[in-house]
Amino acid sequence: MKGLEVTEKLIEETRQGESLEVISTTNNTRKMYIESYGCQMNFSDSEIVASILTDQGFSTTKNIEKADVVFINTCSIREKAETTVRNRLKVYNAIKKKQNPGMVVGVLGCMAERLKEKFLEEEKLVDIVVGPDAYRDLPNLIEDVDNGKKAVNVILSKEETYAEISPIRLGGNGVTAFVSIMRGCDNMCSFCVVPFTRGRERSRNPETIIQECQKLIEDGYKEVTLLGQNVDSYLWSGGGLKKDFNKLSSEEKSKSVDFAQLLEKVALVSPELRVRFSTSHPKDMVDDVLHIMAKYENICNYIHLPVQSGNSRILELMNRGYTREWYIERINSIRKIMPDCAISMDIISGFCSETEKEHQDTLSLMEYVKYDFGFMFNYSERPNTQAQRKLQDDVPEKIKKRRLKEIISLQQTHALYRTKQQVNKVHKVLVEGLSKKSESELFGRNSQNTVVVFPKENYKPGDYVMVHTDSCTSATLKGKAISVA
Ligand code: SAH
Ligand code: SF4
Ligand code: F3S
Repeated sequence: MKGLEVTEKLIEETRQGESLEVISTTNNTRKMYIESYGCQMNFSDSEIVASILTDQGFSTTKNIEKADVVFINTCSIREKAETTVRNRLKVYNAIKKKQNPGMVVGVLGCMAERLKEKFLEEEKLVDIVVGPDAYRDLPNLIEDVDNGKKAVNVILSKEETYAEISPIRLGGNGVTAFVSIMRGCDNMCSFCVVPFTRGRERSRNPETIIQECQKLIEDGYKEVTLLGQNVDSYLWSGGGLKKDFNKLSSEEKSKSVDFAQLLEKVALVSPELRVRFSTSHPKDMVDDVLHIMAKYENICNYIHLPVQSGNSRILELMNRGYTREWYIERINSIRKIMPDCAISMDIISGFCSETEKEHQDTLSLMEYVKYDFGFMFNYSERPNTQAQRKLQDDVPEKIKKRRLKEIISLQQTHALYRTKQQVNKVHKVLVEGLSKKSESELFGRNSQNTVVVFPKENYKPGDYVMVHTDSCTSATLKGKAISVA
């Protein structure tokens, strides 16, 4: 997740749908439109879908009225994410009736996986339902629809990583790109649908990851974000499901690649390529990774380390696999090894049976860490999760909201505190584009992932620029370029 301003994040909850397009250089005639919701992994998957269908004679369009096939890549993480998708489908329905009667509608992603065939019953408009591991089957599913049938494939795989598919970079800035390094999740946090919607955890062949990064730098990209639900448990041991390192044969061990090793390989692709990653898991994040981060200038000093709660009893109920003390020890280790590393979090407010005192523990932990960014949510009960089956969603909505408000307002003071610490310093900024507010200014990010805005002069997206900062808001630094980096 990028460092959105906390208030913005609250309004958005999930990243709003974006329709994406690349200018077609082929003679492809059928047009697809893809709108994506949810986490970066979904956005990355949409690029894989675009790649698979481009090979089948499709081109992308941003104009839904002109699309032959309309896809919505969905998220199930909170109830609100699903409501957003349902509302979008109503809009599609109206467009289909009035402007585009021939359009085929396909639901992709986590909500497709969660609801399966039920989706076709509940939303008459939908023609295709495809889960996250079945995108290679899309050409066949579209053919089924062409032959007058509805089509579903929600089979989860233990192998699929789309390893060799070159994603078509949709709607990007040509500077930063996501690279998926693993899929699925084996953690079973009690509140979370992801293990059900994304299946078992599996790591992608490191060679294909490196090749993708090399291709990106050749194409002018300057930053990659390595994506996984728990990057610290990345382990390549020759394919298939992740294996426990201790259970590998000595030959497998010698060939295996863990996350620290992968990170180093990616850092070595080019000193011009910045490397970020998300998401780290506090139970698995080891010092080896921190030392690699400290060793390479091009690995950004930023860690997203979701805490969820500052209270050990709640963490246990959440099945997170760590305590408050363990988490604090991990924070101390980051601070020791990389004193200027930015840290962000996710927090869930009002989880089952959370008391006022336990909520205070979350606030005091925040006070200890003083996070640079944060993504904060009210607990939303999800069907079939452990929490839904075994625990009571018993914190009244009003109290959840009040606690969340307290968490957000504390985070805002910390964000301002952290950003202020970065004023009056020189930062190496990778320029991503024109500032949203003014055409005469550029914006980029420093290593800590803070947005930096400065007058354009002759700089352009993709440049590394040394910027001296002189003021800030809670989420943005302002300054002036002093030289090319
Ligand atoms: N794999 C990442 C998180 C992915 S989901 C990790 O383990 O940290 C992103 C965030 O959504 C989670 O960190 C959590 O804060 C939030 N989330 C997940 N399920 C939720 C639920 N049922 N209600 C509210 N927030 C939830
Ligand atoms: Fe969900 Fe936990 Fe896996 Fe993150 S680590 S995706 S919160 S189950
Ligand atoms: Fe949502 Fe699925 Fe990502 S539930 S957060 S799109 S893994």
